[in-house]
Amino acid sequence: MCGIVGYIGNENGVSKVLEGLSRLEYRGYDSAGISYKENSDLKVVKKEGKLTNLESLVSEIKANAVVGHTRWATHGEVNDINAHPHGNDLFSVVHNGIIENAFELKKELKEQGEVFHSQTDSEVFLVLLTKNFKAEKNIKSAVLKTFSQVTGNSSFVILPRDEDNIYAIKRSAPLVCGKNDSGDQLFASSDPYALIGFVENIFFPGEEILCFLSKENKRVEFFDIEGNPSENYQSDKSRKDLKVETKEGFDHFMLKEIYEQPKLINNIAKIYETEYQELKNIKLEDIETINIIGCGTAWHAGLCMRNMFETELKKKVNVELASEFRYRKPYLTNKDMGLFISQSGETADTIACTELCKELGLKLGSILNVKDSTLNRLCDENMMIHAGQEIGVASTKAFTMQVIVGHFLMRLFQGKNPAKEFEKELEVLKNRVQGILDAPELIKKIANSIHSYKGFIFTGRNKYFPIALEGALKLKEIAYVHAEGYAAGELKHGPIALIDEEMVSICLVGPELYEKTLSNIEEIKARKGKILIVGPEEHDNLEELADWFIPLNFEGFEYFSPIYVNVVMQLLSYYIAREKGTDIDKPRNLAKSVTVE
Ligand code: G6P
Repeated sequence: MCGIVGYIGNENGVSKVLEGLSRLEYRGYDSAGISYKENSDLKVVKKEGKLTNLESLVSEIKANAVVGHTRWATHGEVNDINAHPHGNDLFSVVHNGIIENAFELKKELKEQGEVFHSQTDSEVFLVLLTKNFKAEKNIKSAVLKTFSQVTGNSSFVILPRDEDNIYAIKRSAPLVCGKNDSGDQLFASSDPYALIGFVENIFFPGEEILCFLSKENKRVEFFDIEGNPSENYQSDKSRKDLKVETKEGFDHFMLKEIYEQPKLINNIAKIYETEYQELKNIKLEDIETINIIGCGTAWHAGLCMRNMFETELKKKVNVELASEFRYRKPYLTNKDMGLFISQSGETADTIACTELCKELGLKLGSILNVKDSTLNRLCDENMMIHAGQEIGVASTKAFTMQVIVGHFLMRLFQGKNPAKEFEKELEVLKNRVQGILDAPELIKKIANSIHSYKGFIFTGRNKYFPIALEGALKLKEIAYVHAEGYAAGELKHGPIALIDEEMVSICLVGPELYEKTLSNIEEIKARKGKILIVGPEEHDNLEELADWFIPLNFEGFEYFSPIYVNVVMQLLSYYIAREKGTDIDKPRNLAKSVTVE
């Protein structure tokens, strides 16, 4: 979603801010802009569309104080005016999040004669800030006052005309600051990834903590909402060794990330063996119900965990969509656990559910990828998936690792060592996934044959049902085609009405419930539907039933065969999207990290 990069220092900040913004492109956006100081004036340049549109307008500009933004539209359509920064002669503001009381504030401000140029909620902050500054005559107190007047989860970065400083503040939204060792380069950003290579020191401010990037003092200073100095921030020097991701010869980040999976599968047991052998803060005997909560692909990973958690842990398990859970007034007690799954650790709905569960005294656990995320700070027990930076908007390797680490959590709950328990099966998984990746020709060929069909229905039973959902999600995300996932047994309760010669059914068949799944496929065939079966290589009649068949070896799997099947789904979506010519790494309208509701 929206990306923020701000710079103040003694070098050219325009190129650094553009470089930082380009690293955040993967998060999804639809327009971009910068504001910079020229002599004693604030200038703003912003442009709808890709960052390159902006770059061509500002590449010659040099400035020491700059704020930049990539916008993912929420309030107001995609156009140059609604793009950020929003500025006037006194301030330029970039914003990530939603101002929930923007409508009322705007109405009041208009009644007082204030003028608005855009349709955004963000401009309300600018107008209010300017008004407060005119009354208070002090930038710091005006920023704090304005921030306390707006509701909702947001981060703001402010470049003032009258000082050589940058102000930044957030509430339940991502914000980091950075400083090089000598302090002559200071940054603020919505993501530490934007700052790799620029600074040695990264700071993570606490909630409602004002970050003051002082050029004169060559440091970042922190203040609480009253304006008093605060120690409520964390610093981290370890980020300086991180590197900016490249495609490493692959055509897309998504493909590179799919191909990274065998290596990640190979590593995860080793990492857990050395770093994580027991649950420190949550005990199974203290829990009655486990609520697994996430969005999108992370929710599907949660669905993959439900059956085994119930069977093996003998606990009641709910798997919930965060956007629904937070508003449906779920019955919860302090004997429950909230288990949050999130690649980014910043998804707004997932965070809101975590906060809700925290208030109610639940035990909080997470399965996540980004160490310094909001989710990590909120939970009692965090299980890292160690998938590395995921750039492709459509999640692939993170899903695989979420499901594996979910299994690790189950064993940790049982007091067992997950690295040892799963060593053999992970070896099988790694080799089988590698086998698929080494010979993608059949999948490519099938993608070529089916890409222009009208629609796609993914079906699976039991542990392959979440993979049917995930397969359909992946395909619609990156190929922009209509695709739905169904439990195979549900087909005759409605979706079967869609079956005809123009509809491809992608049927996931495991050795489990084999006969039952086959009868569902017969029903599709009887209605002249096209059929792609992904199923066991040892079979009686799958090839006769199918128009296309992808044989898989299910021998040696106890738990991880859904992950294996899902890798086929990942490649199939990827190659269908290639046939369609879509923007695979940055599909239209999508964002990698959904930091607004
Ligand atoms: C967005 C992404 C999905 C992701 C979902 C949840 O929709 O495009 O790929 O699954 O958010 O993200 P999270 O970071 O919480 O796993």
